[in-house]
Amino acid sequence: MKYSKVLLVEPDFFDVVDCRNPRMNPSILVDKKLAQKQWDGLVNIYKKLTILGDLDEVVLLGPDPRFIDLVFCANAGLTWKDGNNKKAFMSSMRHVLRRGETPYIKRFLIDEGYQIVDCNNGFFEGTGDCIWQPSRDVLFCGHGYRTNMHGLKYFKECIKNESFTVIDLELCDPRFYHLDTCFMPVNQETVLIYHRAFTSDAFIKITKHFKNVELIDEKEALNFALNGHIIRTLPRRKDVCIIQKGNTQTEKILRREKIRVINCDLGEFNKSGGSVFCMKLEFN
Ligand code: ARG
Repeated sequence: MKYSKVLLVEPDFFDVVDCRNPRMNPSILVDKKLAQKQWDGLVNIYKKLTILGDLDEVVLLGPDPRFIDLVFCANAGLTWKDGNNKKAFMSSMRHVLRRGETPYIKRFLIDEGYQIVDCNNGFFEGTGDCIWQPSRDVLFCGHGYRTNMHGLKYFKECIKNESFTVIDLELCDPRFYHLDTCFMPVNQETVLIYHRAFTSDAFIKITKHFKNVELIDEKEALNFALNGHIIRTLPRRKDVCIIQKGNTQTEKILRREKIRVINCDLGEFNKSGGSVFCMKLEFN
């Protein structure tokens, strides 16, 4: 799936107050000023890419004091295009605290002309657990910690007439609770993964779909190396990956695969268990 626009949500009310994933520790305070600065830095990167023509538009949505995790807007749903029709499947979040985020993002997508289907059964956490295989109509869906089998089954029923195939991948390490923390397809042939996050069944499926499976070490995986955002650009330009700084092994592979690398520092957001990939929602 190719996207041309990204949505980000302003971080005014971002905070870590509980522990919904093993990366969160509410006794370590968030530096709010620094978080704002880091988020502004990310927005600037996207704006520059828009000027260069790699993206059509960056849209910034205002915050809501009720939702401290709204910055992680990737989790609210999945969008795709079916011919000229813009469609979205909205999430049903595992944690009560996050459930109000979905209608907030849904309103935005409706205004953008999206046809919406809501997840009415089980749990489903949108783009956090759904990642496309580049240039192919294959969508990988992680499950186990956030998205569950009921949610996935419901999603598959709802999209059964769409032109893409869903491959489910079971996760088995709670530190890698969303697929976007341990799985980063680079192109049609190559995927970067943290392999211990997957059950052996899931690992076999990955090796069937990608010719090159690059194993990223634990240190970089924990430093959100696989939560980078690869933007698919025009054919004559190199694709570009925005990635958390300090991931040299991953960057080396990306450069070998002819991807331009842009570093960012989202350290304050890492305290909540997320980085670039989950801080934007792609749409058209
Ligand atoms: N604190 C958020 C949560 O636990 C972080 C979400 C990060 N999202 C992601 N797709 N990795 O729900």
